Amino acid sequence: MGIALIWSIALILIKWITSKRRGAISYDSSDQTALYIRMLGDVRVRSRAGFETERRGSHPYIDFRILHSHSEIEISLSARNIRRLLSFQRYLRSSRFFRGVNAQNSLYILDDGYNGQAKCMLEKVGNWNFDIFLFDRLTNGNSLVSLTFHLLSHNGLIDHFQLDMVKLRRFLVMVQEDYHSQNPYHNAVHAADVTQAMYCYLKEPKLAKSFTPWDVLLGLIAAATHDLDHPGVNQSFLIKTNHYLATLYKNTSVLENHHWRSAVGLLRESGLFAHMSAEDRQRMESQLGFIILATDISRQNEYLSQFRTHLDRGELCLENSAHRHFILQMALKCADICNPCRTWELSKQWSEKVTEEFFYQGDVERKCNLDLSPLCDRLTSNIANIQIGFITYLVEPLFVEWARFSNTRLSQTMLGHVGLNKASWKGMLQERSSSEEADPAFDDTD
Ligand SMILES: *[C@@H]1O[C@H](CO)[C@@H](O)[C@H](O)[C@H]1NC(C)=O
Ligand SMILES: *[C@@H]1O[C@H](CO)[C@@H](O)[C@H](O)[C@H]1NC(C)=O
Ligand SMILES: [Zn+2]
Repeated sequence: MGIALIWSIALILIKWITSKRRGAISYDSSDQTALYIRMLGDVRVRSRAGFETERRGSHPYIDFRILHSHSEIEISLSARNIRRLLSFQRYLRSSRFFRGVNAQNSLYILDDGYNGQAKCMLEKVGNWNFDIFLFDRLTNGNSLVSLTFHLLSHNGLIDHFQLDMVKLRRFLVMVQEDYHSQNPYHNAVHAADVTQAMYCYLKEPKLAKSFTPWDVLLGLIAAATHDLDHPGVNQSFLIKTNHYLATLYKNTSVLENHHWRSAVGLLRESGLFAHMSAEDRQRMESQLGFIILATDISRQNEYLSQFRTHLDRGELCLENSAHRHFILQMALKCADICNPCRTWELSKQWSEKVTEEFFYQGDVERKCNLDLSPLCDRLTSNIANIQIGFITYLVEPLFVEWARFSNTRLSQTMLGHVGLNKASWKGMLQERSSSEEADPAFDDTD
């Protein structure tokens, strides 16, 4: 009882500390000549004695400046910035302290402390109506850890691969913390949602009967880590601002490569697979990359036409591991963009979050005199338009093929929701334009 309380307090403290520390991107608008953009997310010095991390090969902290004039690089570390840096290091140190303690004992917090209601929800974790937002509240913001742990354990993967529970907890806690909780959309709840969707797809008869425990483990870990350390802006923003990740990954699948390499870093740091052969570890890491890299939305057409070709020729054979892994790629792609396939109540919340994140990027671009990315301008885009385009050009084409592959009740349910949700957004758009017509303020004939 006493110890559970202490750990609950420790967990709250950790959340508070990390929330102070993790700015996706913050900029100091008080300086007119140089906008100071800093990514605090990509930071961690977490080792306790003896286990040094080279995770992401990143520097203790990263900052980059965007100059209005392209002439000279002006480094203006205001007193405020220095203060911020110092306090940041203080948080870092204390969080490192808690982290070690937390990881060893998180079994207590997450098992005893957590609400019976959350446990109850997990009984229906394979249900397409699963409300991840509610689950996240019931687990006190630990949806990704709780859900993934449950799925691995419930499906016998912990036993099968003889995973060490403490290492697994530590790995999952690190994964969850490496998502930026300040991102409106690309945060740990999105990762938990994608993991839940992935699980629903893995349960589909075609997959369930041919997938090995290895494939299931791979699929769930890929889902949980697929957006790890996402900065809340997209690749074109990183390229425009000369971010080091764009250089590192030569402008191609910059974010996806980073998510994958971050996941590999955490796997190594946690030692989760340390008991496996070097060959298996290597195989896990590269297959993880193979699947996560498929979530690059700018390459959707390539994947989709491959999928169509396979389906047209009826040549997918799930006895073949290459084909199973291709299906894992497609399943993760579906899980990643399945928001419009959920009920309106859930789907609408996701739409609001993603729009907020896009508009935030647009605001930064406007502030920095960069070209505004399409969809990111709150003055010209709106949530309904964005959703209609997203559904028409990305979601429907993908899920139509998925339903050809796996023609089940779930696939029909998902397509049903997509249709209804698209109609709702269209209805809202019409209402909006007719009310604008009726509103004298918009009447320019006066
Ligand atoms: C990445 O894109 C930027 C901006 O278009 C360009 O300056 C840079 O040379 C590109 N880098 C590589 C490796 O292609
Ligand atoms: C991100 O970048 C692409 C350009 O590669 C752009 O078309 C897109 O609209 C941008 N913004 C968002 C929110 O995706
Ligand atoms: Zn994602």
